Amino acid sequence: MSGAPAAIWVAACAADDVEREDVVRFDHDGRTYAIYHSPDDAYYATDGLCTHEEAHLAEGFVSGTIIECPKHNGRFDYRTGEAKGAPVCVNLKIYPVKIEAGRIFIDLA
Ligand code: FES
Repeated sequence: MSGAPAAIWVAACAADDVEREDVVRFDHDGRTYAIYHSPDDAYYATDGLCTHEEAHLAEGFVSGTIIECPKHNGRFDYRTGEAKGAPVCVNLKIYPVKIEAGRIFIDLA
């Protein structure tokens, strides 16, 4: 048996709901996530709250593959979750994404 946890795919929204180089908020089971559409037409998902002071990242600004927090302008690479600029120093959690029949699913396992 493999030690990897089974995937828990959750339907988030329609792929069309997320414009290219933009982000939308997705709430599920008391938690908040952020779903991104990159300039090269790929989709990504991260925790929805900044690791600095828990601002909603979906209210921030997407530039290329960077999400800039709306509160103090901390930056993350939303593909990897890597913290890219002060004051953020803790990486964001990221989640696998798949598209099926025009809908975005994220794996919350
Ligand atoms: S809350 Fe995001 S940078 Fe401070």
